[in-house]
Amino acid sequence: MAAARIVVLTGAGLSAESGLGTFRGKGGLWEEYDLEEVATPEGFARNPTKVHGFYNMRRGWLQQAAPNAAHFALARLEQEHGGEVLTVTQNIDALHEAAGCRNLIHMHGELARALCAACGASHPWTEDLSLGTDCPACGESGTMRPDVVWFGEMPRQMERIYEALGVCDLFVSIGTSGTVYPAAGFVAEAHRAGAHTVELNLDPSEGASLFAETHYGAATDIVPAYVDALLQGKARR
Ligand code: APR
Repeated sequence: MAAARIVVLTGAGLSAESGLGTFRGKGGLWEEYDLEEVATPEGFARNPTKVHGFYNMRRGWLQQAAPNAAHFALARLEQEHGGEVLTVTQNIDALHEAAGCRNLIHMHGELARALCAACGASHPWTEDLSLGTDCPACGESGTMRPDVVWFGEMPRQMERIYEALGVCDLFVSIGTSGTVYPAAGFVAEAHRAGAHTVELNLDPSEGASLFAETHYGAATDIVPAYVDALLQGKARR
């Protein structure tokens, strides 16, 4: 029998125990910051300095953060499963790749990259974008922005994601509240394709009832345990 094709969707809860805050719920980033101001194209047009400040702050947090046991478990799944494992993350940190994950889509972009609004080139970036550096590709000035997807913008590589969801045998959603589309709709897409669907989260997400199997607890506990069970053939795939 061919090895199961697996799509894993991850959200902020996966990186919470690496010290990166989640967005919703008590202490979430959207409690302190107005997302209309810091995470929309309109907010950026109104006040680029404020938006750059928000992402500079988060870039600083990233420098302190290291992958946790859940990131390493998912990298191990990719390496040891023997069939395709595609990880689609909503996270803009770089912790999946730091743990060794390679077949990865950053659907909401990457904090450690900058995008030129004039020519569309994306570059690795660690500096303060408000300094107004010229685009290294086209030379335009004042056109660089964080290479992240803001509310109202199209997430990245959607065609490839839907293609994988349409043929997957197993869909696993980890550490996401299931409130932001299109990612929140992936479980229904996988279900339509006949996949077994699993939610791993601290507590039931908005869409918990859409999953066939659920496990609740901290990602660093439940993800390694679930990956072990999968690799040992003890979990449904
Ligand atoms: N282990 C597992 N799950 C956790 C943990 C943990 N240690 N800590 C928190 N969680 C869960 C929460 O219970 C919540 O359901 O992670 C989820 C985080 O939800 P959100 O903060 O809404 O993050 P996410 O779903 O990734 O947000 C989606 O919204 O703001 C936008 O672009 C941003 O990519 C983000 C998108």
